Amino acid sequence: MLFSIHGLIRGENPELGRDADTGGQVQYVLELARCLGAHPAVARVDLVTRLICDKTVSPDYCLPVEPLGDKARILRVRCGGRRYLRKELLWPHLDEFVDKTLKLIRAEGHIPDICHGHYADGGYVARELAAIFGSPFVFTGHSMGRHKKNKLLSEGFAPEEINRRYRIDHRIGVEERIIKDAEKIITSTSHEINKQYGVYETAAAGSFEIIPPGINVENFYPYYQNHLEQGGGDESSRQARMVLLNELHRFWVATHKPFILALCRPDQRKNIAGLITAYGENKELQAIANLAIFAGIRKDIGTMEENERGVLTEMLLLMDRYDLYGKLAIPKKHNFTTEVPELYRLCADSQGVFVNPALVEPFGITLLEAAACGVPIVATRNGGPTDIIGNCDNGLLIDPSSTGEIAEACREILVDRELWQRFSSNGINGVRQHYVWESHCERAVAVYQGARSQVPASEHGAKAGAGGSAFGRRLVGVERLLISDIDNTLIGDDQALAELLTILADQRQRLAWGVATGRSLERVRDVLEEFGVEIPDIVIASVGTEIYYGSELLVDKGWQQHLAYNWKPAAIREGLAGFAFLEEQAEQDQRPFKISYFMEDDPELLARIHQRLHARKLRYNLIYSGGQFLDILPFRASKGKAVRYLSYKWEVPLPHIMVCGDSGNDEEMLRGDTSGLVVGNYRQELAHLKGMRRMYFSSRDYAAGIIDGLQHFKFI
Ligand code: GLC
Ligand code: MG
Repeated sequence: MLFSIHGLIRGENPELGRDADTGGQVQYVLELARCLGAHPAVARVDLVTRLICDKTVSPDYCLPVEPLGDKARILRVRCGGRRYLRKELLWPHLDEFVDKTLKLIRAEGHIPDICHGHYADGGYVARELAAIFGSPFVFTGHSMGRHKKNKLLSEGFAPEEINRRYRIDHRIGVEERIIKDAEKIITSTSHEINKQYGVYETAAAGSFEIIPPGINVENFYPYYQNHLEQGGGDESSRQARMVLLNELHRFWVATHKPFILALCRPDQRKNIAGLITAYGENKELQAIANLAIFAGIRKDIGTMEENERGVLTEMLLLMDRYDLYGKLAIPKKHNFTTEVPELYRLCADSQGVFVNPALVEPFGITLLEAAACGVPIVATRNGGPTDIIGNCDNGLLIDPSSTGEIAEACREILVDRELWQRFSSNGINGVRQHYVWESHCERAVAVYQGARSQVPASEHGAKAGAGGSAFGRRLVGVERLLISDIDNTLIGDDQALAELLTILADQRQRLAWGVATGRSLERVRDVLEEFGVEIPDIVIASVGTEIYYGSELLVDKGWQQHLAYNWKPAAIREGLAGFAFLEEQAEQDQRPFKISYFMEDDPELLARIHQRLHARKLRYNLIYSGGQFLDILPFRASKGKAVRYLSYKWEVPLPHIMVCGDSGNDEEMLRGDTSGLVVGNYRQELAHLKGMRRMYFSSRDYAAGIIDGLQHFKFI
């Protein structure tokens, strides 16, 4: 499974450059998915992205499944509503994404062998799912937050502003953990390892592999092919060329000259202004060549996002300042898949050059595409282009901050036919040798296989069996679930408990089990240890406010995220601070989603608490139990709601979950559609549940009652 969450991703006609989130990464993951899908060692590839149903974008993004070939698909998963959101706003919704993906995996019955995350958001999701399924986690960053933050800081942005706009510190925190946990991190260049990852605290723990992306050389074939083939290529390529020529000729007076081409997103960092200035300052360059800048697609600059608007406005102002009318083409739109290859070939036909003047270019895929078509390149020396020109010897590196250098490099190539020819041929050949997706995929598959062997096979199997960190494999496979209260239900009769544990071990293929309790995780551990019970598949602790899985007790973040909604613990504490009849419970029992007191059993006092909290318009769930315990929880929390969440998340129907209890605070989870089992030693407060649908009162006590219930409900 590949995860690329943000942006607009579709197989046909991807809208690269449409916005800041729909760029090179989209292209990369599509190509990767396609070529992996064609690889004989790969059974299946799913590229998982966000489902977007929004009038402002194409309905294509609202399709849950889109095939990309025989073995590859795009799967779209909903999170954070239906509207298109920029990537910085997706963080609070990623746990929902994990949960929904989990359901999908369960429904399809295919557990991913590899979770490969792209960018920090995809990395977050892949890391979570890899932990759930005990699958290897592979990561490709595309770009990293700390680098971006440092750059913005150096440009004079205040840290608060950077965080407000880009949630950068949150992203960096996620990236730190990703680097540490990924079995392998795939980068495109060595520059990327040093500059992007090198500034992370966990960088030394990272395991890197440089695999440059490939380009599709079938689309980006050499310019001369059109001349050699009779008639010059097929009809659609001729049409694309005509459209482009018509467009360019609207801008240029001398249409026969070579042209200098740039193609990039309208982003400050791409340094379009540097290139126009270089051209504008250099009269000789203007005399020998035209300039064409394709900076994304635009309708109305006035309504565009700040960065883009700034870049495009500056572009127009520079055109005017240097009086480049008749020489500089700045088309408003182009079609990416059909027109871009033709654009490069037109540029090569004109004996032009392609320029990437970015302040820093992490990789430079457009340079490869231009090179594959036979256009010599002039590229920033900061970043990936160093590798490209190192491999292919097909152009010149420049310092992007020097407009003089940019202009001189262009001029040098444009005036020297021999040099132009050499660079052109070297690019065409070099790309085919070093940068095709087939060779990328070959190496990626090797990385996947290596990562899989890194997780020891024995552990892999054992984990999948023993409810260890591969609890996900187990939980998507079981048919039924047993959830039991601990005190006076699971525990109370050692003999029967031992018998129950033997039954659960025998039935583990079909039946998973867990506990649900008011105890904190620590106190759960203590009591299980005391009675010689191994950690079960699921622990619902602290009155349902925390859910843990497997022997490693991995916390369910989806549930935490769900509870956090409208939960204001500080305000609740403050509201109750004046009540002398409340005695705070021990520190250990105060949890992020649970505030606990001791209180004498007096309905009057309870009423005063409700009054006070209502007056402050606070939302909460109050549970009073055992004649002394007062728990205040988020309004979405309780043991019963936790059980229902498990049912939803792991797609186990409620009747297939048997819930066991003995006292009042078990009531909520016993009621309703779950199969409810009340042990013989129950407290009177549960008596009124007798006779309810799917409720069984055993005549046997403690664990013996549970065994009786398993038989009664035909769980065994
Ligand atoms: C356990 C917890 C306590 C809680 C009580 C009732 O005893 O330790 O904090 O109030 O259960 O849920
Ligand atoms: Mg109990």
